[in-house]
Amino acid sequence: MLSGVSLWLAENNYYVSVVARDPHKMERMIKRSANPSKLMPIFVDYSHEDELRRALLPPIRQKRPFDLVVAWIHSYANGALYTVAEIVSKNNNRWKLYHLLGSNRDADAVKASLAIPDNCDYHQVQLGFVIENNRSRWLTNDEISAGTIAAIRNRNDNYTLIGESGPWHRWPGNI
Ligand SMILES: NC(=O)c1ccc[n+]([C@@H]2O[C@H](COP(=O)([O-])OP(=O)(O)OC[C@H]3O[C@@H](n4cnc5c(N)ncnc54)[C@H](OP(=O)(O)O)[C@@H]3O)[C@@H](O)[C@H]2O)c1
Repeated sequence: MLSGVSLWLAENNYYVSVVARDPHKMERMIKRSANPSKLMPIFVDYSHEDELRRALLPPIRQKRPFDLVVAWIHSYANGALYTVAEIVSKNNNRWKLYHLLGSNRDADAVKASLAIPDNCDYHQVQLGFVIENNRSRWLTNDEISAGTIAAIRNRNDNYTLIGESGPWHRWPGNI
């Protein structure tokens, strides 16, 4: 869903660490890159927090602290975001977190529930839906990546909605 963001960051000369588990999917993404040497896989299941912690250390030891994090984390692994925030905050002065939220999340409640470190600029990117020809549908992966890239470029906004968020009766499946 966010491979377009990883590819865009690599094209813009970021060193991009990509957390995932499936090497075949990762290889397919790296093959699409114009700048493959900038994409560094981190193969770990982020729900295993000790393993995640260990996996995030090599880039920091190589003097590449993370200054921008794009996080799309399933709710069964909420602790992963805390692990990332703790490690990144400890090893950097200021950093930016773009936190992707599904359509049904309450963005204010999510923000209130997080202990955002003082040196973190926290941004939320919420996924909505698209109304087309009087029908609604979920966002495509390309739309999600494009909307996330726009949020990163427009760094002053703390909240970005991609697509529409309502009304509820127009959610996909409801019309
Ligand atoms: N409007 C909306 O709310 C909206 C819109 C679109 C999609 N969605 C939701 O998004 C989900 C699909 O998103 P997606 O296709 O991007 O798939 P995903 O299952 O969320 O995976 C996203 C990325 O995270 C990695 N990943 C997932 N679980 C991981 C774990 N435990 N540890 C490490 N990496 C992990 C995946 O790679 P690996 O498989 O290699 O680990 C993949 O690269 C669906 O649940 C869909 O309902 C919601």
